[in-house]
Amino acid sequence: MNARRPSQTSVMVAFLRALAHDGLTGVPSFSDPTARKLLPFPWSTLHAGIRRATRRLEPEKARRRFSPLVDILPLRTLHIDEELAEAVARGCRQLVILGAGLDGRAHRLPGLAGVTVFEVDHPATQADKRVRARGLPLVAHRLTYVPVDFEHERLAQRLREAGFDPSAPTVWIWEGVTMYLTDAAIAATLADVSGLSAPGSRLVVNYREPGEVTAAERPMRWWFTGRVKEPQIGDRSRDTMTREVETAGLKVLRDSGGGDWAARYGAPEPTVPTLLRTRNMVAEKP
Ligand SMILES: C[S@@+](CC[C@H](N)C(=O)[O-])C[C@H]1O[C@@H](n2cnc3c(N)ncnc32)[C@H](O)[C@@H]1O
Repeated sequence: MNARRPSQTSVMVAFLRALAHDGLTGVPSFSDPTARKLLPFPWSTLHAGIRRATRRLEPEKARRRFSPLVDILPLRTLHIDEELAEAVARGCRQLVILGAGLDGRAHRLPGLAGVTVFEVDHPATQADKRVRARGLPLVAHRLTYVPVDFEHERLAQRLREAGFDPSAPTVWIWEGVTMYLTDAAIAATLADVSGLSAPGSRLVVNYREPGEVTAAERPMRWWFTGRVKEPQIGDRSRDTMTREVETAGLKVLRDSGGGDWAARYGAPEPTVPTLLRTRNMVAEKP
């Protein structure tokens, strides 16, 4: 990514969560009131414009129009939130959000009231997020920002310096990030996650399987690569992700994708091929 500019893909996914929060999704009962508040200009203006325009439409018609593109974000977020709640119920008292972007979990999940949260992200993205999150009340027990460039720095050292306790069971979330990283950065980060994990710690890693880019998806691909300079270079198969996670010393518990989440949360089956290839793998430190 562009080292001097906050990630634009992190803004795009927060924008989609904001639209889903407004009901422009086929995913029932999704809520993320933080997403809209974290949006920078011009996305905030675009979001407000869409809100005004869709209020004039019949709600079902508006939902149908946005649902195919928007749904995958609330689905992956709902699934990660469910895994997070389970890990906290099993005793994890630290949460590390890797490549946090405009993640609002520390400000919106009451289940984190007893949990210390570390948000790790590229320095350029994180500096901007810190400013945007200033007005949001903290719901988690504590929130610490840890700037790390996964391509050039080691996570372990930065987290220890920030007060992370490796003896405490931890839940790690890595949502929507691996597709932007080199194989070396993914391997180094997984090794550090495992090395810092007490037994019983959980990792929820989101990744995307390789596949053909359809003609309809090409403009979006150009936006990632040519416009915002965040090329999606890190697609990997389920076998590769499993091997990498297990090589690092974690045991894979389960793996699910867009179709599974749609069935679980009562949403229409996703149809956009790229989105159908997105998956969440859950692993545990033995
Ligand atoms: C699509 S956003 C996802 C943000 C957030 N996890 C979410 O799902 O809303 C990708 C994130 O990966 C981060 N990222 C990309 N390359 C990175 C790097 N080399 N080091 C640290 N973070 C990186 C970006 O800063 C951005 O926050």
